[in-house]
Amino acid sequence: MKALINDITIAYTDEGTGPPLVFLHAFPLNRTMWTAQEQALSSRHRVITVDLRGHGESDAPLWHYTLEQAADDVRGLLDHLSVSHAVFAGLSMGGYILFALYRKYADRVKGLVLADTRAQADTPEGKTGRFQMAQIAYTQGPAAIADLMIPKLLSPEAIRSNPTLVQHVRSMIEANQVSGIAGDLMAMAERPDSVPLLRQITCPTQIIVGELDISTPLHDSKLMADQIPGAQLATIPGAAHLSNLEQPERFNHIVEAFVSNAGRI
Ligand code: MLT
Repeated sequence: MKALINDITIAYTDEGTGPPLVFLHAFPLNRTMWTAQEQALSSRHRVITVDLRGHGESDAPLWHYTLEQAADDVRGLLDHLSVSHAVFAGLSMGGYILFALYRKYADRVKGLVLADTRAQADTPEGKTGRFQMAQIAYTQGPAAIADLMIPKLLSPEAIRSNPTLVQHVRSMIEANQVSGIAGDLMAMAERPDSVPLLRQITCPTQIIVGELDISTPLHDSKLMADQIPGAQLATIPGAAHLSNLEQPERFNHIVEAFVSNAGRI
């Protein structure tokens, strides 16, 4: 489905009925990374997955991107769908956007699932890496970004033994336009430090991290778990950065247990 939000087309899927659960994808993927979550959770929840500006079937305007703007798009989509409150799950860049969303629209957030993400801003070296990657996207195209990213996103075992998963990740990356890849790299490079926000988060929060995540490793999750009041941390053994894709059953189980704890949410 598609909606005109903040003057661009945003694509989304809206499945099931029950308490709303909104999923925000990682960089540089799209909403199809959440298919297993949608299938497992939409029998008891209204599951909304979004192609963020610049990705999937949403528009990828050639312009300056910010994560705050992505949060505004999500809020605009929820208004369009008459969803006043939701539990939000974001993986990696999706988590960075959740911090921006919480900063502006905490009153819409009933709970947070922060998966394979981090609160810290980029280091100076990290920012340089973003601009180098944007140059590669511009000169060599999305396939070169897929070659660079796949070893950072998936575990060596998944790359060796799960060609279907590798192909799904590759096709999500290759389907991007360069404007969307470069836009989000710059948005991530410019994102603020969210560590000071952590102690102000008052909603129930579940943190999830793949044991083998090298992009946003366990110590980043521990920092969030230490500072967000009452947050719970779950580690998924054997999974790398895209823990929901590598171990969907374990991931779903953690999310289901979190959201169905209706007494707290
Ligand atoms: C992601 O998975 O969204 C990216 O690894 C985030 C990042 O590059 O910081």
